Amino acid sequence: MQVIIVPNKEEMGKRAAALIAEQMRAKPQFVLGLATGSTPLPLYQELIRMNKAGELDFSTAITFNLDEYVGLPPTHDQSYRCFMNVNLFDHININKAATHVPDGMAPDPDVSCEAYECMIEDIGGIDCQVLGIGSNGHIAFNEPGSSLASRTRVVKLTKSTIKDNSRFFARTEDVPTRAISMGIGTVLEAEGIVLLAYGANKADAVAKALEGPVTVSVPASALQLHPRVHWIIAEDAASKLRLEWER
Ligand code: F6R
Repeated sequence: MQVIIVPNKEEMGKRAAALIAEQMRAKPQFVLGLATGSTPLPLYQELIRMNKAGELDFSTAITFNLDEYVGLPPTHDQSYRCFMNVNLFDHININKAATHVPDGMAPDPDVSCEAYECMIEDIGGIDCQVLGIGSNGHIAFNEPGSSLASRTRVVKLTKSTIKDNSRFFARTEDVPTRAISMGIGTVLEAEGIVLLAYGANKADAVAKALEGPVTVSVPASALQLHPRVHWIIAEDAASKLRLEWER
């Protein structure tokens, strides 16, 4: 586990992009796991810059997103498919057919979750999974209480996550209450993981996940069990850490 504390979210994005770019250049057909939300935006901006500058090629990359709201079609402006198109895929030379986001409109979500797992397995697994962390310690939409062995499935969102995400919707009632999410077990199978965090509202979750016990109460604490995780944390989100980590 490597913990890197950086001054701000811009630096967080640059460090993460540099790390991912180095791995991508070393492996054609790189399989990148992606997250949505505010946290990875500085990373995506830097990846777009690198791609436009000719420093990083996405033409053979394959991506899998962590999650999608149940009930939102890909065309909905708050769907995670739409988020990915607008914030990354539309601006880089990636083959859109090689980008995967769980299907929130699948007629049988359980079958579709199993198929998502199979696709990841068939491709040989995820080389690098990007994660954010919820203020309640969730990763993907694995809320507190999720089994550390969980797989891709339909999950119910907690009140705190619905409240956190209501900033993107006109009314809190418009936030979907269920999502399809990769499981913690699925995430732990990635070859490498990059967890990003910025903002004082993440400081408690980051401290519990990194320095507390491994527990279902803090899903991100499961990352302590993975041998190759980079935590790239901005100062404000690192403010409650007690141990001496790299700066
Ligand atoms: C999104 C995801 C979530 C977010 C987390 C933090 O795909 O999996 O776990 O990473 O909710 O969200 P932000 O970055 O908006 O604070």
